[in-house]
Amino acid sequence: MSEFEKKITEYKGKIKLSTNIEEIESLRLDLFGKNGVINLEFKKLGQLSAEEKKIFAANINKIKQDLLDIYNAKSVEILDKDIIQKVEKEKIDITLPEKEFKIGKVHPVSQVIDEISCIFSEIGFSVEEGPDVENDYNNFTALNTPENHPAKDMHDTFYLDENMKTLLRTHTSPVQVRTMLKGKPPFKIIAPGRTYRSDSDQTHTPMFHQLEGLHIDKDINMGHLKGCLNYFIREFFEVDKIKMRFRPSHFPFTEPSAEVDIGYRIENNKIIIGEGDKWLEILGCGMVHPNVLKNCKVDPNKFQGFAFGIGIDRLAMLKYGINDLRSFFECDYRWLNHYGFDPLDVPTNYRGLSR
Ligand code: PHE
Repeated sequence: MSEFEKKITEYKGKIKLSTNIEEIESLRLDLFGKNGVINLEFKKLGQLSAEEKKIFAANINKIKQDLLDIYNAKSVEILDKDIIQKVEKEKIDITLPEKEFKIGKVHPVSQVIDEISCIFSEIGFSVEEGPDVENDYNNFTALNTPENHPAKDMHDTFYLDENMKTLLRTHTSPVQVRTMLKGKPPFKIIAPGRTYRSDSDQTHTPMFHQLEGLHIDKDINMGHLKGCLNYFIREFFEVDKIKMRFRPSHFPFTEPSAEVDIGYRIENNKIIIGEGDKWLEILGCGMVHPNVLKNCKVDPNKFQGFAFGIGIDRLAMLKYGINDLRSFFECDYRWLNHYGFDPLDVPTNYRGLSR
């Protein structure tokens, strides 16, 4: 056996015994690299006659092919093993329980909207929705608030175009218009949602929440409005008796109009709702103006009714003892953990609203 053939036998043994990529790669370089065993053997061709060259080269090529076959088979084996090992190591048992299990919380505003919807559904109101981006007609004109009306200024409107035709709704009252235009009376709806005004301090945020109420039928009067609001406030604050007063006010879309205050007192730094000699304004309301009905294709000679608009955030602050309105919208996880609600604790009239 030649020196070369001895080496080849030795290398075949080494390839068979190798166990990882680094080892087999270094064997590949030893054998097939520029100055590897095979190339060195080829260099000997120079000293041979043409006849000998043929036989010599054919022999090395056969040995080389042989080696390559063994090398390739071993490479595949090592790579396969590597992949299987990696997969084994990275395997995740998705049936194992979470190590740290966190449940999200329901924001107090969402909770209060659920509570309110629940209370009003009990007396036959259904829930409507309207878009945050409104047109000037639905937000003002149809609501009897024409161009240049001073009440328009009071709303600190965010306009979205230069012609002041598109805006972020300044109240939920445009949902009254949308509801009446798309249906036929009677109407008995509430509409909770986001509203926007350019205003910001401890009790005002540029975005806030309102709840609109609308009840239109043949003989709805101010007495129904009072009864309805009285029922709502008692249910919402979960008290038997409530002190409530209607103060004359003005809204272009209601006549007569009123603002409603509820009585409260402070005891040990806490607000007690429903009694005491202090007053807190919580909503605006009135009998829907005949012009609004006309604009909404409802005949004011046949139909009439009331509307109200409640500040939802303020109700949430009062009920759940939250002092700063701005904290509602800061997205502070710690705050939400403290004031938020269990997602499975959905308010119902049967189980109780906040318990
Ligand atoms: N839209 C009025 C506001 O934002 C509230 C309101 C609604 C008053 C419905 C009367 C009737 O202040």
